[in-house]
Amino acid sequence: MQSIVEQLELKRELARRGGGEKRIAAQHAKGKLTARERIEVLLDEGTFEEWDMFVEHRCTDFGMQDNKIPGDGVVTGYGMINGRLVFVYSQDFTVFGGALSEAHAEKICKIMDQAMKVGAPVIGLNDSGGARIQEGVASLGGYAEVFQRNVMASGVIPQISMIMGPSAGGAVYSPAMTDFIFMVKDSSYMFVTGPEVVKTVTHEEVSAEDLGGAITHTTKSGVADLAFENDVEALLMLRRLYNYLPLSNREKSPVRPTGDAADRVELSLDTLVPDNPNKAYDMHELIGKVVDDGDFFEIQPDYAKNIIIGFARMDGQTVGVVANQPLVLAGCLDIKSSIKAARFVRFCDAFNIPVITFVDVPGFMPGTSQEYGGIIKHGAKLLYAYAECTVPKITVITRKAYGGAYDVMASKHLRGDVNFAWPDAEIAVMGAKGAVEIIFREDKNDPEKLAAKEAEYRDRFANPFVAAKRGYIDDVILPHNTRKRICRSLVMLKDKQVTNPWRKHGNIPL
Ligand code: HXC
Repeated sequence: MQSIVEQLELKRELARRGGGEKRIAAQHAKGKLTARERIEVLLDEGTFEEWDMFVEHRCTDFGMQDNKIPGDGVVTGYGMINGRLVFVYSQDFTVFGGALSEAHAEKICKIMDQAMKVGAPVIGLNDSGGARIQEGVASLGGYAEVFQRNVMASGVIPQISMIMGPSAGGAVYSPAMTDFIFMVKDSSYMFVTGPEVVKTVTHEEVSAEDLGGAITHTTKSGVADLAFENDVEALLMLRRLYNYLPLSNREKSPVRPTGDAADRVELSLDTLVPDNPNKAYDMHELIGKVVDDGDFFEIQPDYAKNIIIGFARMDGQTVGVVANQPLVLAGCLDIKSSIKAARFVRFCDAFNIPVITFVDVPGFMPGTSQEYGGIIKHGAKLLYAYAECTVPKITVITRKAYGGAYDVMASKHLRGDVNFAWPDAEIAVMGAKGAVEIIFREDKNDPEKLAAKEAEYRDRFANPFVAAKRGYIDDVILPHNTRKRICRSLVMLKDKQVTNPWRKHGNIPL
């Protein structure tokens, strides 16, 4: 018995050592934690239950039969984040560069399957040289097994990817199919083909960082959601995000008690929107003043800044916030912002998270680059997402809601449950000036007449009451009551039930 226990401990020690001291030191020298250290930071202390510590690869080519390290380059198992279950895999770059073998893939698939059975999220900590080159197609098959599970788990359990080293080639597609991607600045990168291949094929010279680093993907491509300074910061922020999410689509998000009264009146909101309709204000300020304790977890803050998305709580309950940002492109909807918000709305809908929409939108962005880029198709994504969405939807029009963008932004017609407007809201086909220039074109040389018509149009349409008379707006509320009215609406909507007609799946314009 004694010797078996000793053997066990020896085997465990071997697995824990990973690729050995030298490679661990190299990992640290790059400012990176090891796979196990990352799990320690991510999970509640002492909660990690490791599986498959003794799994080895089965490759016999290129001398691999004599080169086996227990665990085979990925640490897998489950544990707790603030007392809530989570499955995790963490690739170990010190073992074959974290490269994915058939056995390595089987370990990941095993925890994904288990997570689906019990209904708990999967977090992947990615740090890998990609397909295990010595294994060839067996490794590619392993990737595809993971991809298939990513797709089956989509909308069933939250899936979160942390990119903490290389993620190259087809390997990027597993993170791409998960709900959120976090990256670490200067030590992580994602690309389908690396700088060398880019140079050969397109003759462009680009560094790995510029091609697929954290800044690139959180500002230019929109592939990743957030970029962090180092591993520890990224992992701690991931714990924060986790607290907003339900374990699966069968559950609701955890409620966090708050000292922030649900009926708190916020007088400063009454003066937040400038009198001049062409003057901007910061929608972040508005969100901060409405949600619990001013606490807002923004997603994709550096990409398509003309729309703001993120999680907050209202009287303890998680909500998804979508808001036009008048400070950027006057809050217009364009291709990037439509896609950004559509995906977020769909996440909230899949995971029972009510959506609060703050609207101040002058319309869709005009121009050839938008039209040639397919704004019709991409704008339709947001429209589709809101229309399909069955979770509680509460909308507050703070100022402009013009044209098609009025319809799109969770209007009553798209099954908005509660639609409020502030008293100065303008709900119309377009702004008064543009409208008058079109319908009174014959008077274009008579500025006085045009000004009179503009004033008439503004009086007639630039207010929330035309829409309110038709019931498109449930109530015109004073800005300072916004929090109170949203909280009450959420209580009313607590047990909302709406189901869409049966279908295999819809055909969202991709
Ligand atoms: C096997 C690998 C490996 C791989 C790295 N290693 N990548 N072993 N298969 N894919 C090993 C190295 O041999 C080395 O072993 C150790 O990991 C660390 O690698 P280094 O090169 O020393 O590290 P570094 O300089 O930091 O460079 C990291 C790297 C580079 C940029 C990831 O290793 C690299 O370019 N690797 C190949 C990447 C690649 O082409 N992968 C296939 C992509 S295609 P020792 O023993 O010396 O420590 C793909 C298809 C997926 O993934 C398709 C899915 C559909």
